[in-house]
Amino acid sequence: MHNRPQSVEDFRRVAQRRLPRAIFDYVDGGAEDESTIAGNRTAFQRIALVPRVHEDARPLDLGVTLCGRPLSMPLLLAPTGNSGLVHPDGDLAAVHGAAGAGIAAIVSGVASYSIEELGAAAPAGAPPWYQLYCYGDREFYGHIIDRAAAAGFEGLVVTVDVPRPGRRERDIANGFTVPPRLTARNAHDLLRHPSWTLGVVRHRRVTIRLFSEERPPLRALVRSASSSARAFTATLGRTSWDDVGWIRDRWKGPLSVKGILAGEDARRAAECGADAIVVSNHGGRQLDGAIASLDALPDIATAVGGAAQVVLDGGIRRGTDIAKALCLGADAVAIGRPWLYGLAAGGTRGVAAVLDRLRTELATTLELLGEPCARHLDSSFVRRLPYAASQPIPTERGRNR
Ligand SMILES: Cc1cc2nc3c(=O)[nH]c(=O)nc-3n(C[C@H](O)[C@H](O)[C@H](O)COP(=O)(O)O)c2cc1C
Repeated sequence: MHNRPQSVEDFRRVAQRRLPRAIFDYVDGGAEDESTIAGNRTAFQRIALVPRVHEDARPLDLGVTLCGRPLSMPLLLAPTGNSGLVHPDGDLAAVHGAAGAGIAAIVSGVASYSIEELGAAAPAGAPPWYQLYCYGDREFYGHIIDRAAAAGFEGLVVTVDVPRPGRRERDIANGFTVPPRLTARNAHDLLRHPSWTLGVVRHRRVTIRLFSEERPPLRALVRSASSSARAFTATLGRTSWDDVGWIRDRWKGPLSVKGILAGEDARRAAECGADAIVVSNHGGRQLDGAIASLDALPDIATAVGGAAQVVLDGGIRRGTDIAKALCLGADAVAIGRPWLYGLAAGGTRGVAAVLDRLRTELATTLELLGEPCARHLDSSFVRRLPYAASQPIPTERGRNR
């Protein structure tokens, strides 16, 4: 691409060129048939915006407050593991990119940097949030919670949709491992991507840092596992509401529960003391065939009824998507792959560029919609269509016109 990337999709194309295939597929892919990835996008295409005549002179206002934190726009960086494989800046790029944009980054529990490195990297006044997997053992995750608090993280986000990793067939076919291994099959691909390969060799941000630390209480597990990814998988367990309540007692700051798709679960999470619910199907990487996040959103917003704030992730690629989610009841949205595409394209600056594009798109959307204040968007600005707007309309006989 010779021109500067104009959209998230442009950044995706740059990422595809820059990354070895196994790494691009790890980022871009999902579980089994990837029908939930597709569904996350189609759900946005089934929502049409209804612009209104903008009669007053209120200024454009993208700001929201989430869990007490003022954000310059209703956007967060979603936690994505192993981002050091995409670019050596990895999670640091999220922390700096978010701080520069006046929003918050949620750092993955399977980050390429340590909890303390990331806490120390955060600029004053822009603390990141920490994403926790429950794992099977309270002693272990209680210890992680205490480390995140000591390192200065502001919020804790408990992910509840990974009792085990989903079956990601692109990763299986590519022989993807963390850390990656050099094989006869991938050697040619690595040689075709020398700047990626050099970056990895020089900076070595290629393991799940938490699972390569050999600190107690993990030491024995890490030593017995053949890779940090295996050590991670071995610790995973199902999260109960009792666990969420236990975490609520241990963590003094804002708490979010991520990976909720049912109204009843959202209500339970709020009852456990969650300040925010993240409506998410893990970007289609876990249960294939799971409901699109946007389709799950209205029921969840109704079920929590203001008892907790609501964040949506999955399929956000445009400013118009952010606006649609806000119209359907979200207080903010989060992006996973889009920031990773920016990271692949240009490290920390690439992440900043993606955030800049989305901010411009959201501002344009609000002006054209006739509602300059993001907080005032509601369901009167959208209509649900019986088909996806950018797809051919199916005829009655099931064939395309
Ligand atoms: C490469 C990758 C790694 C991810 N790792 C994590 C993780 O460690 N923890 C987590 O809660 N979610 C993780 N997710 C899910 C994201 O937080 C988010 O739910 C999802 O990416 C949103 O969909 P989107 O990519 O369409 O924006 C990951 C997603 C991707 C693409």
